[in-house]
Amino acid sequence: MIQAADALACGHLVAFPTETVYGLGADGLSSEAVQRIFQVKARPADHPVILHVGSIAAAQALAKDWPRQAQRLAERFWPGPLTLILKRSSHVPDIVTGGQDTVGIRLPAHPVALAILSEFSQRGSGVIAAPSANRFGGVSPTRAADVVASIGDRLTVNDLVIDGGACGVGLESTIVDLSDPDRAGIRLLRPGGIDRLSLERVLGRPFNAISGSQAPRVSGALESHYAPTAKALRVDAQEFVRIAQQHRPQYATSDVLCLVMQARIPEGLGLQCHQMPLDPAAYGHDLYAVLNDADQRSIKLLLIESPPQTVEWEAVNDRLKRATARQ
Ligand code: TXA
Ligand code: MG
Repeated sequence: MIQAADALACGHLVAFPTETVYGLGADGLSSEAVQRIFQVKARPADHPVILHVGSIAAAQALAKDWPRQAQRLAERFWPGPLTLILKRSSHVPDIVTGGQDTVGIRLPAHPVALAILSEFSQRGSGVIAAPSANRFGGVSPTRAADVVASIGDRLTVNDLVIDGGACGVGLESTIVDLSDPDRAGIRLLRPGGIDRLSLERVLGRPFNAISGSQAPRVSGALESHYAPTAKALRVDAQEFVRIAQQHRPQYATSDVLCLVMQARIPEGLGLQCHQMPLDPAAYGHDLYAVLNDADQRSIKLLLIESPPQTVEWEAVNDRLKRATARQ
Protein backbone atom coordinates (compact mmCIF):
# COMPACT_ATOMS: atom_id res chain seq x y z
CA MET A 1 0.00 0.00 0.00
CA ILE A 2 2.99 2.28 0.48
CA GLN A 3 3.78 1.89 -3.21
CA ALA A 4 0.20 2.84 -4.12
CA ALA A 5 0.26 5.89 -1.85
CA ASP A 6 3.61 6.96 -3.31
CA ALA A 7 2.29 6.59 -6.85
CA LEU A 8 -0.74 8.75 -5.98
CA ALA A 9 1.48 11.34 -4.31
CA CYS A 10 3.54 11.56 -7.54
CA GLY A 11 0.40 12.22 -9.62
CA HIS A 12 0.12 8.71 -11.08
CA LEU A 13 -3.03 6.61 -11.34
CA VAL A 14 -3.82 3.64 -9.12
CA ALA A 15 -6.67 1.26 -9.96
CA PHE A 16 -7.79 -0.34 -6.70
CA PRO A 17 -10.57 -2.57 -5.38
CA THR A 18 -13.49 -1.22 -3.41
CA GLU A 19 -16.40 -3.26 -2.05
CA THR A 20 -18.54 -2.06 -5.01
CA VAL A 21 -16.37 -2.00 -8.17
CA TYR A 22 -12.73 -1.22 -8.99
CA GLY A 23 -11.93 2.50 -8.95
CA LEU A 24 -9.41 4.40 -11.07
CA GLY A 25 -7.79 6.57 -8.43
CA ALA A 26 -5.80 9.81 -8.53
CA ASP A 27 -4.91 12.45 -5.95
CA GLY A 28 -8.30 14.10 -5.53
CA LEU A 29 -6.86 17.50 -4.68
CA SER A 30 -4.56 17.67 -7.72
CA SER A 31 -6.19 18.93 -10.94
CA GLU A 32 -3.38 17.51 -13.09
CA ALA A 33 -3.68 14.05 -11.56
CA VAL A 34 -7.48 14.00 -11.94
CA GLN A 35 -7.14 15.21 -15.53
CA ARG A 36 -5.44 11.90 -16.37
CA ILE A 37 -8.49 9.96 -15.16
CA PHE A 38 -10.60 11.80 -17.73
CA GLN A 39 -8.07 11.05 -20.48
CA VAL A 40 -7.77 7.35 -19.68
CA LYS A 41 -11.54 6.83 -19.37
CA ALA A 42 -12.35 9.13 -22.30
CA ARG A 43 -14.87 10.66 -19.92
CA PRO A 44 -16.59 13.95 -20.86
CA ALA A 45 -15.25 16.84 -18.74
CA ASP A 46 -18.68 17.77 -17.35
CA HIS A 47 -19.18 14.42 -15.61
CA PRO A 48 -17.98 14.81 -12.03
CA VAL A 49 -15.96 12.15 -10.19
CA ILE A 50 -16.45 11.13 -6.58
CA LEU A 51 -13.88 11.60 -3.81
CA HIS A 52 -12.91 8.72 -1.51
CA VAL A 53 -11.79 9.44 2.04
CA GLY A 54 -10.73 7.39 5.05
CA SER A 55 -12.79 9.06 7.79
CA ILE A 56 -15.92 11.11 8.40
CA ALA A 57 -13.72 14.04 9.47
CA ALA A 58 -11.92 13.94 6.12
CA ALA A 59 -15.32 13.98 4.35
CA GLN A 60 -16.48 16.99 6.40
CA ALA A 61 -13.36 18.89 5.32
CA LEU A 62 -14.39 18.57 1.65
CA ALA A 63 -17.94 19.87 2.17
CA LYS A 64 -19.12 23.43 2.77
CA ASP A 65 -22.15 22.25 4.76
CA TRP A 66 -22.54 19.01 6.65
CA PRO A 67 -26.30 18.61 7.24
CA ARG A 68 -27.46 16.51 10.16
CA GLN A 69 -28.83 13.91 7.73
CA ALA A 70 -25.30 13.50 6.30
CA GLN A 71 -24.01 12.76 9.79
CA ARG A 72 -26.80 10.24 10.36
CA LEU A 73 -26.22 8.39 7.07
CA ALA A 74 -22.43 8.47 7.43
CA GLU A 75 -22.53 7.08 10.97
CA ARG A 76 -24.86 4.29 9.93
CA PHE A 77 -23.54 3.30 6.47
CA TRP A 78 -19.85 4.31 6.31
CA PRO A 79 -17.55 2.65 5.59
CA GLY A 80 -19.82 1.29 2.87
CA PRO A 81 -21.38 1.57 -0.60
CA LEU A 82 -22.94 5.02 -0.15
CA THR A 83 -21.93 8.28 -1.86
CA LEU A 84 -23.18 11.58 -0.45
CA ILE A 85 -23.53 14.66 -2.67
CA LEU A 86 -22.84 17.82 -0.69
CA LYS A 87 -22.01 21.49 -1.30
CA ARG A 88 -18.32 21.51 -2.09
CA SER A 89 -15.68 23.30 -0.08
CA SER A 90 -13.48 25.78 -1.98
CA HIS A 91 -10.35 23.62 -2.09
CA VAL A 92 -12.03 20.86 -4.12
CA PRO A 93 -10.70 21.30 -7.69
CA ASP A 94 -13.19 22.29 -10.43
CA ILE A 95 -12.24 19.30 -12.53
CA VAL A 96 -13.50 16.96 -9.77
CA THR A 97 -16.95 18.53 -9.67
CA GLY A 98 -17.36 19.10 -13.40
CA GLY A 99 -17.90 22.78 -12.64
CA GLN A 100 -20.87 22.09 -10.33
CA ASP A 101 -20.99 23.53 -6.80
CA THR A 102 -21.44 20.10 -5.27
CA VAL A 103 -19.11 17.17 -4.61
CA GLY A 104 -19.68 13.43 -4.22
CA ILE A 105 -17.91 11.81 -1.26
CA ARG A 106 -17.62 8.20 -0.16
CA LEU A 107 -15.85 6.25 2.60
CA PRO A 108 -15.37 2.77 1.08
CA ALA A 109 -15.40 -0.45 3.11
CA HIS A 110 -12.79 -2.52 1.26
CA PRO A 111 -9.70 -3.23 3.42
CA VAL A 112 -7.31 -2.54 0.51
CA ALA A 113 -9.01 0.79 -0.28
CA LEU A 114 -8.90 1.79 3.39
CA ALA A 115 -5.24 0.81 3.70
CA ILE A 116 -4.32 2.93 0.65
CA LEU A 117 -6.36 5.87 1.98
CA SER A 118 -4.64 5.61 5.34
CA GLU A 119 -1.12 5.52 3.81
CA PHE A 120 -2.02 8.33 1.42
CA SER A 121 -3.20 10.56 4.25
CA GLN A 122 0.36 10.35 5.65
CA ARG A 123 2.14 10.82 2.33
CA GLY A 124 -0.27 13.11 0.49
CA SER A 125 -3.74 14.64 0.56
CA GLY A 126 -5.50 11.45 1.71
CA VAL A 127 -8.28 12.18 -0.80
CA ILE A 128 -8.64 9.84 -3.78
CA ALA A 129 -10.77 10.81 -6.79
CA ALA A 130 -12.00 7.58 -8.37
CA PRO A 131 -14.64 6.77 -10.92
CA SER A 132 -15.11 3.14 -11.94
CA ALA A 133 -11.95 1.89 -13.69
CA ASN A 134 -13.45 1.31 -17.15
CA ARG A 135 -13.85 3.23 -20.38
CA PHE A 136 -16.71 5.72 -20.22
CA GLY A 137 -20.10 4.15 -20.85
CA GLY A 138 -18.90 0.55 -20.53
CA VAL A 139 -19.43 -2.08 -17.86
CA SER A 140 -17.71 -1.38 -14.53
CA PRO A 141 -14.89 -3.77 -13.54
CA THR A 142 -15.35 -6.05 -10.53
CA ARG A 143 -12.04 -7.91 -11.01
CA ALA A 144 -8.52 -6.63 -11.67
CA ALA A 145 -8.45 -8.47 -15.01
CA ASP A 146 -11.51 -6.47 -16.16
CA VAL A 147 -9.63 -3.24 -15.41
CA VAL A 148 -6.67 -4.37 -17.49
CA ALA A 149 -8.94 -5.48 -20.35
CA SER A 150 -10.79 -2.14 -20.38
CA ILE A 151 -8.06 0.47 -19.83
CA GLY A 152 -4.77 -1.44 -19.44
CA ASP A 153 -3.44 -0.19 -22.77
CA ARG A 154 -4.00 3.43 -21.69
CA LEU A 155 -2.01 3.26 -18.45
CA THR A 156 1.71 4.09 -18.17
CA VAL A 157 4.47 2.11 -16.44
CA ASN A 158 4.14 4.40 -13.41
CA ASP A 159 0.44 3.67 -12.93
CA LEU A 160 -0.65 0.68 -10.83
CA VAL A 161 -3.44 -1.88 -10.91
CA ILE A 162 -3.88 -3.46 -7.48
CA ASP A 163 -5.47 -6.91 -7.50
CA GLY A 164 -7.69 -7.36 -4.45
CA GLY A 165 -9.83 -10.18 -5.82
CA ALA A 166 -13.48 -9.91 -6.83
CA CYS A 167 -15.57 -7.05 -5.38
CA GLY A 168 -18.15 -8.15 -2.81
CA VAL A 169 -21.10 -5.92 -3.79
CA GLY A 170 -20.45 -5.84 -7.54
CA LEU A 171 -22.68 -2.80 -8.32
CA GLU A 172 -21.72 0.84 -7.76
CA SER A 173 -22.54 2.77 -4.61
CA THR A 174 -25.95 4.28 -3.91
CA ILE A 175 -25.83 8.06 -4.47
CA VAL A 176 -27.84 10.34 -2.19
CA ASP A 177 -28.07 14.07 -2.91
CA LEU A 178 -27.90 16.08 0.32
CA SER A 179 -26.68 19.28 -1.29
CA ASP A 180 -29.89 21.21 -0.65
CA PRO A 181 -32.03 19.28 1.86
CA ASP A 182 -34.20 22.25 2.86
CA ARG A 183 -35.35 23.30 -0.63
CA ALA A 184 -34.76 20.46 -3.12
CA GLY A 185 -35.12 17.79 -0.43
CA ILE A 186 -33.12 14.57 -0.18
CA ARG A 187 -32.91 12.64 -3.43
CA LEU A 188 -31.79 9.20 -4.49
CA LEU A 189 -29.70 9.81 -7.63
CA ARG A 190 -28.49 6.26 -8.24
CA PRO A 191 -29.74 3.07 -6.57
CA GLY A 192 -26.86 0.82 -5.56
CA GLY A 193 -25.18 -1.19 -2.86
CA ILE A 194 -27.46 0.11 -0.09
CA ASP A 195 -31.16 -0.22 -0.78
CA ARG A 196 -33.69 2.62 -0.71
CA LEU A 197 -35.68 1.28 2.24
CA SER A 198 -32.67 1.01 4.56
CA LEU A 199 -31.75 4.61 3.79
CA GLU A 200 -35.29 5.90 4.22
CA ARG A 201 -35.54 4.13 7.55
CA VAL A 202 -32.48 5.98 8.85
CA LEU A 203 -33.62 9.31 7.35
CA GLY A 204 -37.06 8.80 8.84
CA ARG A 205 -38.78 9.81 5.57
CA PRO A 206 -39.10 8.84 1.92
CA PHE A 207 -36.81 10.39 -0.69
CA ASN A 208 -37.98 13.46 -2.59
CA ALA A 209 -38.72 12.99 -6.27
CA ILE A 210 -36.29 14.25 -8.91
CA SER A 211 -37.97 16.45 -11.48
CA GLY A 212 -36.49 16.37 -14.99
CA SER A 213 -35.34 19.99 -15.13
CA GLN A 214 -33.47 19.90 -11.81
CA ALA A 215 -31.84 16.52 -12.32
CA PRO A 216 -28.13 16.94 -11.56
CA ARG A 217 -25.61 15.98 -14.22
CA VAL A 218 -24.58 12.46 -13.41
CA SER A 219 -23.12 10.01 -15.86
CA GLY A 220 -24.98 7.23 -14.09
CA ALA A 221 -28.15 9.06 -15.08
CA LEU A 222 -27.50 8.66 -18.80
CA GLU A 223 -30.00 6.44 -20.48
CA SER A 224 -27.33 4.15 -21.96
CA HIS A 225 -24.48 3.43 -19.55
CA TYR A 226 -22.86 0.42 -17.91
CA ALA A 227 -23.39 -1.20 -21.32
CA PRO A 228 -21.69 -4.27 -22.78
CA THR A 229 -20.47 -4.31 -26.39
CA ALA A 230 -23.04 -6.97 -27.29
CA LYS A 231 -26.58 -6.06 -28.28
CA ALA A 232 -28.45 -6.69 -25.02
CA LEU A 233 -32.19 -7.21 -24.60
CA ARG A 234 -34.29 -7.59 -21.48
CA VAL A 235 -36.92 -10.26 -21.89
CA ASP A 236 -39.74 -11.42 -19.59
CA ALA A 237 -39.58 -15.08 -18.52
CA GLN A 238 -42.87 -16.00 -20.27
CA GLU A 239 -41.67 -14.54 -23.58
CA PHE A 240 -38.12 -15.79 -23.36
CA VAL A 241 -38.35 -18.82 -25.62
CA ARG A 242 -40.38 -16.96 -28.26
CA ILE A 243 -37.95 -14.01 -28.40
CA ALA A 244 -34.95 -16.34 -28.41
CA GLN A 245 -36.42 -18.30 -31.33
CA GLN A 246 -37.02 -15.04 -33.18
CA HIS A 247 -33.39 -13.86 -32.92
CA ARG A 248 -31.63 -17.20 -33.04
CA PRO A 249 -31.38 -17.63 -36.86
CA GLN A 250 -29.44 -14.38 -37.26
CA TYR A 251 -26.54 -15.52 -35.08
CA ALA A 252 -24.01 -18.34 -34.74
CA THR A 253 -24.44 -20.53 -31.63
CA SER A 254 -21.32 -19.10 -30.01
CA ASP A 255 -22.54 -15.51 -30.52
CA VAL A 256 -25.61 -15.67 -28.26
CA LEU A 257 -25.74 -15.90 -24.47
CA CYS A 258 -28.92 -16.12 -22.36
CA LEU A 259 -28.82 -14.95 -18.74
CA VAL A 260 -31.73 -16.81 -17.21
CA MET A 261 -33.36 -17.00 -13.78
CA GLN A 262 -36.61 -19.01 -14.03
CA ALA A 263 -36.96 -19.39 -17.81
CA ARG A 264 -36.36 -22.89 -19.15
CA ILE A 265 -34.77 -23.00 -22.59
CA PRO A 266 -35.32 -26.17 -24.67
CA GLU A 267 -31.98 -27.82 -25.51
CA GLY A 268 -32.92 -28.06 -29.16
CA LEU A 269 -32.65 -24.29 -29.60
CA GLY A 270 -28.86 -24.51 -29.41
CA LEU A 271 -28.53 -21.58 -27.03
CA GLN A 272 -25.82 -21.07 -24.41
CA CYS A 273 -27.37 -20.27 -21.05
CA HIS A 274 -25.91 -18.88 -17.87
CA GLN A 275 -27.97 -19.39 -14.70
CA MET A 276 -28.17 -16.09 -12.76
CA PRO A 277 -28.75 -16.08 -8.98
CA LEU A 278 -32.32 -15.69 -7.71
CA ASP A 279 -31.26 -13.45 -4.85
CA PRO A 280 -30.75 -9.72 -5.63
CA ALA A 281 -27.45 -9.31 -3.73
CA ALA A 282 -25.95 -12.41 -5.36
CA TYR A 283 -27.25 -11.28 -8.76
CA GLY A 284 -25.68 -7.83 -8.27
CA HIS A 285 -22.40 -9.45 -7.26
CA ASP A 286 -22.27 -11.53 -10.47
CA LEU A 287 -23.80 -9.21 -13.09
CA TYR A 288 -20.80 -7.16 -14.23
CA ALA A 289 -18.47 -10.17 -14.15
CA VAL A 290 -20.87 -12.01 -16.46
CA LEU A 291 -21.22 -8.98 -18.76
CA ASN A 292 -17.45 -8.41 -18.85
CA ASP A 293 -16.89 -12.10 -19.62
CA ALA A 294 -19.42 -11.81 -22.45
CA ASP A 295 -17.44 -8.86 -23.85
CA GLN A 296 -14.23 -10.88 -23.59
CA ARG A 297 -15.84 -13.73 -25.50
CA SER A 298 -17.15 -11.31 -28.15
CA ILE A 299 -20.76 -12.35 -27.53
CA LYS A 300 -22.95 -10.46 -30.02
CA LEU A 301 -26.40 -10.93 -28.48
CA LEU A 302 -27.30 -11.10 -24.80
CA LEU A 303 -30.84 -12.10 -23.87
CA ILE A 304 -31.37 -11.20 -20.23
CA GLU A 305 -34.39 -12.46 -18.31
CA SER A 306 -36.00 -9.55 -16.41
CA PRO A 307 -35.77 -9.96 -12.63
CA PRO A 308 -38.81 -9.11 -10.46
CA GLN A 309 -39.82 -5.42 -10.44
CA THR A 310 -39.62 -5.10 -6.65
CA VAL A 311 -37.67 -2.63 -4.50
CA GLU A 312 -35.05 -5.24 -3.53
CA TRP A 313 -34.15 -5.47 -7.22
CA GLU A 314 -34.06 -1.70 -7.83
CA ALA A 315 -30.28 -1.39 -8.33
CA VAL A 316 -30.05 -4.49 -10.54
CA ASN A 317 -33.02 -3.37 -12.65
CA ASP A 318 -31.56 0.13 -12.99
CA ARG A 319 -28.28 -1.29 -14.39
CA LEU A 320 -30.07 -3.74 -16.67
CA LYS A 321 -32.20 -0.92 -18.04
CA ARG A 322 -29.10 1.13 -18.92
CA ALA A 323 -27.16 -1.89 -20.20
CA THR A 324 -29.99 -2.62 -22.64
CA ALA A 325 -30.87 0.97 -23.58
CA ARG A 326 -28.72 1.29 -26.72
CA GLN A 327 -30.63 -0.99 -29.08
O1 TXA B 1 -19.22 2.54 -6.11
C1 TXA B 1 -18.84 3.56 -6.65
O2 TXA B 1 -19.43 4.66 -6.50
C2 TXA B 1 -17.59 3.47 -7.54
C3 TXA B 1 -16.39 3.15 -6.67
C4 TXA B 1 -15.10 3.17 -7.45
O3 TXA B 1 -16.33 3.99 -5.57
N1 TXA B 1 -17.40 4.69 -8.25
C5 TXA B 1 -18.20 5.06 -9.26
O4 TXA B 1 -17.79 6.23 -9.87
O5 TXA B 1 -19.14 4.42 -9.63
P1 TXA B 1 -18.38 6.73 -11.25
O6 TXA B 1 -17.66 8.01 -11.57
O7 TXA B 1 -18.30 5.68 -12.24
O8 TXA B 1 -19.82 7.10 -10.86
C6 TXA B 1 -20.03 8.14 -9.93
C7 TXA B 1 -21.31 8.84 -10.25
C8 TXA B 1 -21.33 9.40 -11.64
O9 TXA B 1 -22.60 9.13 -12.21
C9 TXA B 1 -21.13 10.88 -11.39
O10 TXA B 1 -21.68 11.65 -12.44
C10 TXA B 1 -21.83 11.05 -10.08
O11 TXA B 1 -21.44 9.93 -9.36
N2 TXA B 1 -21.39 12.25 -9.36
C11 TXA B 1 -20.15 12.54 -8.95
N3 TXA B 1 -20.11 13.77 -8.40
C12 TXA B 1 -21.37 14.27 -8.47
C13 TXA B 1 -21.98 15.50 -8.09
N4 TXA B 1 -21.30 16.46 -7.52
N5 TXA B 1 -23.29 15.65 -8.33
C14 TXA B 1 -24.00 14.67 -8.90
N6 TXA B 1 -23.48 13.48 -9.29
C15 TXA B 1 -22.18 13.29 -9.08
MG1 MG C 1 -18.71 4.47 -13.90
